[in-house]
Amino acid sequence: MKIIENCSLQDKHTFHLPVKARYYVAYSSVSELCDFLASSPLVRDYPVYHIGGGSNLLFLGDYNGVILHSEISFIETVAESDTEVTLRVGAGVVWDDFVAYTTARGWWGIENLSLIPGEVGASAVQNIGAYGVEAKDVIVCVETIDRHTGEPRIFSNEECAYGYRESIFKTTLSGRYIVTAVVYRLQKVANPHLDYGNLREAVGDVAPLTSERVRRAVIAIREAKLPNPDLLGNAGSFFKNPVIPRAQYEALQQKYPDMPHYVVDSERVKLPAGWLIDRASWKGRTHRGAGVYEKQSLVLVNHGRATAQDIAELSDMICASMRDVYGVELCPEVNFIQS
Ligand code: EPU
Repeated sequence: MKIIENCSLQDKHTFHLPVKARYYVAYSSVSELCDFLASSPLVRDYPVYHIGGGSNLLFLGDYNGVILHSEISFIETVAESDTEVTLRVGAGVVWDDFVAYTTARGWWGIENLSLIPGEVGASAVQNIGAYGVEAKDVIVCVETIDRHTGEPRIFSNEECAYGYRESIFKTTLSGRYIVTAVVYRLQKVANPHLDYGNLREAVGDVAPLTSERVRRAVIAIREAKLPNPDLLGNAGSFFKNPVIPRAQYEALQQKYPDMPHYVVDSERVKLPAGWLIDRASWKGRTHRGAGVYEKQSLVLVNHGRATAQDIAELSDMICASMRDVYGVELCPEVNFIQS
């Protein structure tokens, strides 16, 4: 167990803001976590917030509490047949290391989720997604510890109540359970999902088609469009893509015939927030130290000396503009953290 007082969080979240935590606590096993929750006075005296790779967070200032982090790190095969493999993975494993582990073995299922920053635990909380695949498509169950009782509880995929960037861990049970491991089921036979955007073209049609090749194509697309957080602080997509009623979509479509969209169901349509922001001329604009990334308007960046307030104000300005221009309400995907 690592306990650091007055710990800088600058390298522990991808916006790289110069904020500190009163305590930073990293544990490397379930028993260490349970001992800490059961007996540390810090848990009684301070608020506790659990982070993963810090890739989806905006710290609004110093955190006067305990930042908890999992270093539970293992990948084990729990079942295998000719066609499928079931893997149990520690919450602290870096997500992309896990993806690389699976594609190196020729397994299918998460290659489209290559290079998403963050850790395995967050994949199950956030239901990360990209290029037509979401974590929920491969999650069998999620192992957790109840923060209040220290009791273990396993959530089946259905119990996680997954939706677009949503799960029960973000809604009704927010803050209650700490993910310690996730069980995924992957395929050993080719099962590509190449229909999103220009992925099929980027993969090319040279045989054989492998999950490793899809991974390399996804990495190339992401590297061309999304800023590397180690070079330019950011938290990936800052907003969720808004889902609006069909009638509202049809009215907007009259005005913007070239507006891309995805049909959710017969009643609802999802719009790409990046396109809406771009079309309202926000791409590349700055507000003090913060800015809208010049190649993808859904990403807000720290140009080096941004404060959390700069980023939060820019977010508010964009939301107000989306309301004015399109009558659409944007909702941040990034979690704002305050203590
Ligand atoms: N677009 C623009 N201008 C922009 C940005 C986008 O016109 O500045 C257009 C694109 O041309 C495209 C559409 O908007 O027609 C959608 O853009 P893109 O395919 O880049 O995807 P996105 O909707 O902006 C979502 C996820 C990403 C994920 C990609 C690919 C959300 C909030 N974001 O972005 O996830 O990588 O699809 O699947 O759902 C993340 O969550 O951090 C993330 C990067």
